[in-house]
Amino acid sequence: MDPAFDPLQIAIDGPAGSGKSTVAARLAHELGMVHVDTGAMYRALTLVARREGIGVDDAAALSRRLLEIEMEFVEGRIHLDGEDVSEAIRSNGVTSQVSQVSAHEQVRRAMVVRQRRMCRAARQGAVIEGRDIGSVVLPLSRCKIYLDAAVEERARRRLLQQGEPVDADRLERMREEIARRDRLDTEREHSPLVIAPDAHVIDSTALTLDEVVQRCVEHARAAVPAPVSHKEIHAWRFTMRSYQAAVWLLRLVFFRPFGMRVYGLANQAADRNFLFACNHISHFDPPVAGSVFRRELYFLAKAELFGGFFGRLIRHFRAIPIRRGRWDEQAMSAAVEALRSGASLMFFPEGTRKPAGRPGPAKRGLGILWEESGVPMIPVYVRGTDRLRRCLLRRERLEVWVGPPLRLHALEVLQKTMTAQQIHRRIGDLWLACIEELAERSEQEGGERG
Ligand code: DC
Repeated sequence: MDPAFDPLQIAIDGPAGSGKSTVAARLAHELGMVHVDTGAMYRALTLVARREGIGVDDAAALSRRLLEIEMEFVEGRIHLDGEDVSEAIRSNGVTSQVSQVSAHEQVRRAMVVRQRRMCRAARQGAVIEGRDIGSVVLPLSRCKIYLDAAVEERARRRLLQQGEPVDADRLERMREEIARRDRLDTEREHSPLVIAPDAHVIDSTALTLDEVVQRCVEHARAAVPAPVSHKEIHAWRFTMRSYQAAVWLLRLVFFRPFGMRVYGLANQAADRNFLFACNHISHFDPPVAGSVFRRELYFLAKAELFGGFFGRLIRHFRAIPIRRGRWDEQAMSAAVEALRSGASLMFFPEGTRKPAGRPGPAKRGLGILWEESGVPMIPVYVRGTDRLRRCLLRRERLEVWVGPPLRLHALEVLQKTMTAQQIHRRIGDLWLACIEELAERSEQEGGERG
């Protein structure tokens, strides 16, 4: 099993009272998948803290304890060290303290590791719901849903759910309580509630539960990648013989002597052309990452490289010169044009090389290319290109990880409340989260291989 190619993981985010839990439970049941309720996990940790007298502001003690306890979902109920605590975690005491527990960065980091592990272990697929799933926990998910509803409607649903009468007074109080939680969730410093740029936004204000579930099922079905044949992945799609020969030669060098491995290649064959967005640690990234795809790619390369023979050479191999240190409209337009015309482009969103292990942040160019071209973006992670000599001696691994294609589904919704600059920053954040997750998988895979 290719570790870059997951069973379907449906990521559902949304504010308090948007109906996530009900929808996620129904969806998991209908599709035969595991349901992971991340809110319940933060609640369970809060319950442990209350029982054991751990302060909810003691991030170190909370995250230490989190590493020791067992959490498991059994038929939609949460078990804590074997005890079913599904009711206990809904007490007023827990509810009033859980947002303090979930605000600690250290706690969230440990929780995310757990949540990813749970999802990966679910071979039949998982429906996972929370506040930061599409943006932080599973940035590589192929199916992200952001459930929303008007505050008034969410207040009404909460009252009904709690079995209280829906009168004007209660409604107003609940509305205020929910608006307060929205502020806490969206303004918190670490992993705030955000709409992932590639999420399908569903406003459920005027929809029935069945209708919402139905839409989610449709998105989930569309997200299951069509089976790609070995032949299709390995077909050579070149119009330039010289380009094909160059790729062939590079592959010969990198695969054999340097032991290059490629993961997730089946992610890129389903559609026609892509914006490949790769991390950048060495001058060798373009030939290494470029050689894994058996197709021509456009590149952007700094204008200084375009003098003399080398300049003519890279121009021949589809490099577009870009002047750095300022906005180069001409280069970006040429790149967008190439993508729109059906070509693929390999792009390095960080702009300049970064030390290995510390990727990012992405510059605005990525957001602009993705938005203006409308072409799916595939995050690509390379490792080892900065230590080729060690790769030759097999002391380091030369690897390329290809993520799934991400589409900019939420653009119109985001444009209603955000500036272009803010949207591009969010796109950059998503890309970075994807690269970090691919890097984590590479570490794990290396550990398992020994
Ligand atoms: O959805 P809920 O009410 O069970 O969530 C409980 C708390 O946990 C709430 O304060 C938000 C927080 N939470 C979070 O910060 N991140 C998640 N992924 C899920 C929940």
